[in-house]
Amino acid sequence: MQVTIDGPAGVGKTSVGRQAARSFSLLFIQSGQLYRAMAYAKKNGLTDKSVKLSVDDRGETHLTIDGEDVAEKLETEEIGDLASQMAQRREVRDGVNDIIVEESRDKDVLVEGRDIGTVVLPDADLKIFLTASPRERAIRRHKQLGGGRTVDEIEKEISHRDERDKSREIAPLKPAEDAVIIDTTSLTKNDVVNKISDLIRRRAANP
Ligand code: DC
Repeated sequence: MQVTIDGPAGVGKTSVGRQAARSFSLLFIQSGQLYRAMAYAKKNGLTDKSVKLSVDDRGETHLTIDGEDVAEKLETEEIGDLASQMAQRREVRDGVNDIIVEESRDKDVLVEGRDIGTVVLPDADLKIFLTASPRERAIRRHKQLGGGRTVDEIEKEISHRDERDKSREIAPLKPAEDAVIIDTTSLTKNDVVNKISDLIRRRAANP
């Protein structure tokens, strides 16, 4: 089964996606991490080709840049913003999409991002689009990052990034026509995981 979860920055795609993927033994792929890795590589004078995604024997994905695991260094808002800028370029999108399509082929996967249901896996079995108000997303990010910037500053940054991701010419952020839209503003993480799990179960029962 192929499941896609798209949505804007800070909406919880990664945390709920990872949990749902584990429950259903789906390979979990974070496309945003791949864009972040491309941005990190560029910032450090490395080429796109230095970014590699591999799957271990336990079905967990590992992202390396020039052979190094830099997952933690990709989480900053600076890298997120640079990733959003680079994601406007066709050659960068093609590079990321090739990696995702290659890794998803003939596998049960859950892939999260901005354009997975619309462009990358348009024939996916189940498409989900998560939304939440910018304020709520900024509060969640603030908790996750701890200290540093204020909720107001984070809200401004993610709103700016959303605007760029929504208005770009190639593969803009938007729900697929056949996506199930879930507004998570007043839901807990567990609520969202339960809703997604129900959708996956129902889809699996009606292939
Ligand atoms: O999900 P994220 O915040 O880690 O993504 C970082 C940036 O990467 C996001 O602002 C836009 C880009 N991105 C994209 O253009 N398409 C995707 N499928 C995933 C991410």
